[in-house]
Amino acid sequence: MPETYVGAGAMRHAEPGGGTEPIGQRIIEIPENSHRVDLRDSHSGFIAYVPPGSLEAGKELATTGAGRTIQCNICHGANLKGLGDVPSIAGRSPMYIARQLWDIKHGARKGTSSALMLETVANLTDEDVLNLAAAYLASLEP
Ligand code: HEC
Repeated sequence: MPETYVGAGAMRHAEPGGGTEPIGQRIIEIPENSHRVDLRDSHSGFIAYVPPGSLEAGKELATTGAGRTIQCNICHGANLKGLGDVPSIAGRSPMYIARQLWDIKHGARKGTSSALMLETVANLTDEDVLNLAAAYLASLEP
């Protein structure tokens, strides 16, 4: 992935003229166009870099539970686009998804229906959250 720096508003950007940096166990989201994002252009997108293998590991967790969680489609619908009152989780920003899973697991998000998610997140490691949530879910069509 490109070398990055943290700019205004704690947003990460590609270093102009920079080389590359190792991704490690991180998800890095940077604007496709730093200048347009600084101008708050809502049509300018973001690119997320994810660790190698994380998509496959995430798919395994989401579709089989891998012995540590519950298949997401049971509640979130066949293509994870939502079912009844259960929200869509396909194609959302990786940072948003990871934050929600962390908040639900640690009790920072507790609505009446988030109780339904408790068993799903109880045994997820931080790496699982990264793989599953962030890398795999974010790769799906919204
Ligand atoms: C037993 C049902 C159930 C299962 C299984 C389940 N979820 Fe959920 N999930 C819910 C419900 C209900 C909500 C809405 C909670 C709320 O309103 O606070 C939710 C919310 C979420 C959210 C927050 C979405 C948002 O819009 O903020 C994420 C992210 C999420 N689930 C991910 C997952 C993943 C990943 C899996 C599979 C590993 C999974 N869920 C499995 C029921 C489930």
